[in-house]
Amino acid sequence: MLDMEYLLYKTMAFLVLGLCSCQNEILLDGPLNGSVGGSVVFNLTNPPSKPPSKISWISPSNIEIFALLGNTEVMHPDYTGRVSVNKATASLELRSLTLMDTGEYTLSITTDVARQGKTSLTVFENISHPIISINGTPIAGNSSVNLTCDAQGTIVTREWTKDEKPLSPSNSTILHEENRILSIDPVEKEDEGQYTCTLINPFSSVSENYDLVVNYGPLSVHISPAPEVTPGDRVSLDCSADSVPPASFTWMFNKTQIGDKSQLVIEKVDQSHAGMYTCTALNSITALSLSEEQMLRVNGGIGSEGPSDDVLPDGAIAGIAIGTIAGVALVGGSVAFGTKKAGVW
Ligand SMILES: *[C@@H]1O[C@H](CO)[C@@H](O)[C@H](O)[C@H]1NC(C)=O
Ligand SMILES: *[C@@H]1O[C@H](CO)[C@@H](O)[C@H](O)[C@H]1NC(C)=O
Repeated sequence: MLDMEYLLYKTMAFLVLGLCSCQNEILLDGPLNGSVGGSVVFNLTNPPSKPPSKISWISPSNIEIFALLGNTEVMHPDYTGRVSVNKATASLELRSLTLMDTGEYTLSITTDVARQGKTSLTVFENISHPIISINGTPIAGNSSVNLTCDAQGTIVTREWTKDEKPLSPSNSTILHEENRILSIDPVEKEDEGQYTCTLINPFSSVSENYDLVVNYGPLSVHISPAPEVTPGDRVSLDCSADSVPPASFTWMFNKTQIGDKSQLVIEKVDQSHAGMYTCTALNSITALSLSEEQMLRVNGGIGSEGPSDDVLPDGAIAGIAIGTIAGVALVGGSVAFGTKKAGVW
């Protein structure tokens, strides 16, 4: 029985309190949003049935913005020129908003009874100057990077896309600090692409892009086959590598460095150019290097039956050819060539 009595008491208390608060509370629209420089109107959801004899609006910092008592009205100097009050409804318009206007506003009015209500205002500064900064060097497979998205203004939410599709977080792609930081660990080649961060508040939305380039390699080094040449000809060997950023190259001949460009040119080939050519590709960011070797053999031409023999003077070197297939010898043995990966042969 005690329980029933208690319940009844609680119910009565609720009803009485509820009625009291309905009578004495002003309902104000809100919470309200405003933008810096803009304006808001604090409206009453239940306006008074007749003009109040007393109105008082109190600011978040407890300044009385506006007071009406009978025929006397007072406007606080801090608010002069940017406040209007409707004396029939007690609603207040606040203009030229600043971030300082954020907070809770209290209205007291007296018609037959005194009533009070509160609402809050949040002022947002438009978002501008977005920037994405990168921390770390993206190297495929063994590094991590953070992309940090910032801007000026009042930021409510941040969203990320990659190549214009919503970013899907994974074991290696994680968002921190309410999407401010996008962390990729480890970075892989597939992470390359355009990342977009969009910063949003109720009054503005701004986007910024970042093109992420993932460094890797060199993965493979290739020496282009030179055409078959005869002594006196110009020979060019081209070295290439799969590498980001592009690799730098060095050429070695018989263990001596003879070039530092991707292309090695021998203006007039002769017997002394026969031997082992090595191209080394170096990636300055990954600090990795990879080499490819190519053997160049030159036959003296005596008794050879190579296709170019008949255009050569007596005793001349039969010819030079450079190829990329290991172990292949040309007809007549005039020229033989081969390639190998450094350290694999
Ligand atoms: C005010 O802004 C907040 C975001 O901070 C939003 O959730 C809310 O819906 C906005 N209210 C109005 C009335 O626009
Ligand atoms: C380069 O090496 C090859 C084979 O080791 C040798 O036959 C040739 O004479 C060398 N050439 C030079 C210019 O050192």
